[in-house]
Amino acid sequence: MSTLLLMNFPQKVCNNPSMQIHLSKVVLPVVMLTAIAFLFSSEQQAVHAQQSAVGIWDGIYTEQQVARGQSVYQEVCASCHKEDLTGQDMTPSLVGIGFSFKWQGKNLQELYASMRYGMPQSAPGSLSDQAYADLTALLLSLNGYPPGESELGADEDRLTLIEITSQR
Ligand code: HEC
Repeated sequence: MSTLLLMNFPQKVCNNPSMQIHLSKVVLPVVMLTAIAFLFSSEQQAVHAQQSAVGIWDGIYTEQQVARGQSVYQEVCASCHKEDLTGQDMTPSLVGIGFSFKWQGKNLQELYASMRYGMPQSAPGSLSDQAYADLTALLLSLNGYPPGESELGADEDRLTLIEITSQR
């Protein structure tokens, strides 16, 4: 009799419906939370990977672009910002500390847009998108960022993803 009871005991625990409900109440939420946490973290990583896919230190413009930017600059911008880009009077410097003070922590779209929609002061937007991208490349070059294999485009959504940082 007592043996029978003992042998029956574990079976009874397993078959006990209230125990099963209890287990599913605990285990299911834990499994689901773990799954949600996993999905969320891998999504975060994907977003992060996308955002850090291209950095300003990765060589995001070409030397050729800088040369084109130089010729546009000397023709259209130098009268105010000076030939060496250091500025004068009310016209800000586009290089060195003047550049970093204004643009550190911002993104490339903001720099591009300040020219695309504001410069030259007398005729904003009068150049091609390509020319504004070339001018952006010129500023990157003169402020110490390295050139690379592919040209910097004028796609503002892409430019938004590139942060202007002083650290590699
Ligand atoms: C008629 C004079 C003049 C010309 C020409 C001119 N700029 Fe400017 N630029 C200014 C002045 C003044 C400012 C500051 C006020 C402002 O942001 O509108 C400025 C601001 C800027 C800024 C923002 C810099 C900052 O620190 O705020 C950039 C970048 C810039 N200019 C680039 C250019 C480029 C590139 C060209 C040629 C396509 C150009 N400028 C032509 C006068 C000029």
